[in-house]
Amino acid sequence: MQFGKASRFAVLAAVLLGCTAAAAEPVGTRQRLPWGDDPPAGPALARAAAISAVGRQLFFDTSLSASGTMSCATCHDPSNHFAPSNSLAVQLGGAKRNKPGTRATPSLTYAATTPFFTEHYYESEDEGDESLDQGPTGGRTWDGRVNRVRDQAAIPLLAPNEMANESEAALVARVAKAAYAPEMRRLFGDALFSDVHRALLRIGEALEAYQQTPAEFSSYTSKYDFVLRGQAKLTPQETRGLAAFNDPARGNCAHCHRSQLSPSGTLPLFTDAGFIALGVPRNRDIPANADPRYYDLGACGPQRRDLAGRPEFCGLFKAPSLRNVATRRSFYHNGVFHSLEDAVAFYATRDTNPERWYPKGPDGKVRKFDDLPDEYQRNVDFEPPFNRRAGDTPALSPQDVADIVAFLQTLTDGYQVGSQLATTGTKLPAVSDAAVR
Ligand code: HEC
Ligand code: HEC
Repeated sequence: MQFGKASRFAVLAAVLLGCTAAAAEPVGTRQRLPWGDDPPAGPALARAAAISAVGRQLFFDTSLSASGTMSCATCHDPSNHFAPSNSLAVQLGGAKRNKPGTRATPSLTYAATTPFFTEHYYESEDEGDESLDQGPTGGRTWDGRVNRVRDQAAIPLLAPNEMANESEAALVARVAKAAYAPEMRRLFGDALFSDVHRALLRIGEALEAYQQTPAEFSSYTSKYDFVLRGQAKLTPQETRGLAAFNDPARGNCAHCHRSQLSPSGTLPLFTDAGFIALGVPRNRDIPANADPRYYDLGACGPQRRDLAGRPEFCGLFKAPSLRNVATRRSFYHNGVFHSLEDAVAFYATRDTNPERWYPKGPDGKVRKFDDLPDEYQRNVDFEPPFNRRAGDTPALSPQDVADIVAFLQTLTDGYQVGSQLATTGTKLPAVSDAAVR
């Protein structure tokens, strides 16, 4: 089954319909269908819901790791919007749970609709002008090196410092022993586990389907969503924060982290998934950084290989969604900051007060952009709010920074409004539009 836009919609529809389709057809009792591999719409919905349910079990299954104690949910904690609930910059994995990663773990919320990676992106709903080249955009992970969530899953399952399966065959053998293995055989065929390659594809497909369920991954239940639907009001401070966030002369944040309804009425994702070098400080808490020759250069490597030899991509990382950002405990691709205040203040004073963020070199001078070799520092972004020199007045005042932080706190899902309002809110078409974009 190919997962184009149409079938992705089927999964979403199944969930939006409250899984009535799945309930109508009890799992495990279905006979072999007369129409073979291409069932009509009703059973297709039931099948999509069943695949997503298997994906959920895979996601939480600690037996799929060499340590026997780590699942996807260990790092992508559902109780913290599928981001880590600890404040480590990088998580520990491997058979003994002692091998550090090299990057901060992103939240998985609102990631399902990220476009595939392209060097030239033209479809910009927010700018409204499709002839504008938005530059490199999209893909999964901080460097966009895989496009599909189903392919992404193989990375943590096999990485020696994550779930650390010894081989693809070892992973498939673990899945074949799981409690939900009979359900996978029912869905994908009795011979599933005898073909390692096919089994891997199906494992990826199920994990992808689960990560597309709106109820868990993109509920659009933040205070700001209710505000956009006219069902809640921002406080004066949050209102000031939104204004500073949007103002091109102050935060200019919305330039990359879209904050308004699109012309067609979809709720904003707070990212354009564009690639930018912000030049965040080197994080000395990451063990790999003890080697002065090691640099994480994002889109040009070392993890991503197809753009190696393209110096203009060095230091570029994908802009993450700012939805649920206030619940993160490590910020940016290298987790260098641990408070939202610092993450926002960095934009204000990176250039006006660099000594606040970067170490001094042996000559006593501040070493700006110390996580980038000299030859790539010209890739660093200097659009507003960064268009300043040392000693200039920052584009954002300390009050603006505090206000933006207050506004970002309205982007956390699970906001409670009066129950009557909350029920009408879920019926708005904007929710499904945004999810299938
Ligand atoms: C040891 C911690 C850890 C575990 C376990 C883990 N992840 Fe991740 N995940 C990460 C890190 C770190 C990244 C960023 C990787 C990068 O940029 O190279 C990431 C990125 C992702 C992304 C890309 C998100 C985006 O939009 O860019 C997805 C999807 C994802 N993980 C899903 C999964 C799934 C599914 C599993 C289980 C099979 C899993 N992860 C297990 C740490 C983990
Ligand atoms: C030119 C595009 C651009 C602009 C303008 C911009 N950002 Fe970002 N933002 C990014 C990119 C790219 C990253 C990831 C960079 C990295 O990790 O190296 C990011 C990361 C962040 C993060 C860390 C999120 C996380 O999950 O770790 C926060 C918080 C943030 N931005 C807030 C803001 C605020 C507030 C503003 C306005 C003051 C702003 N951004 C303006 C592109 C931009």
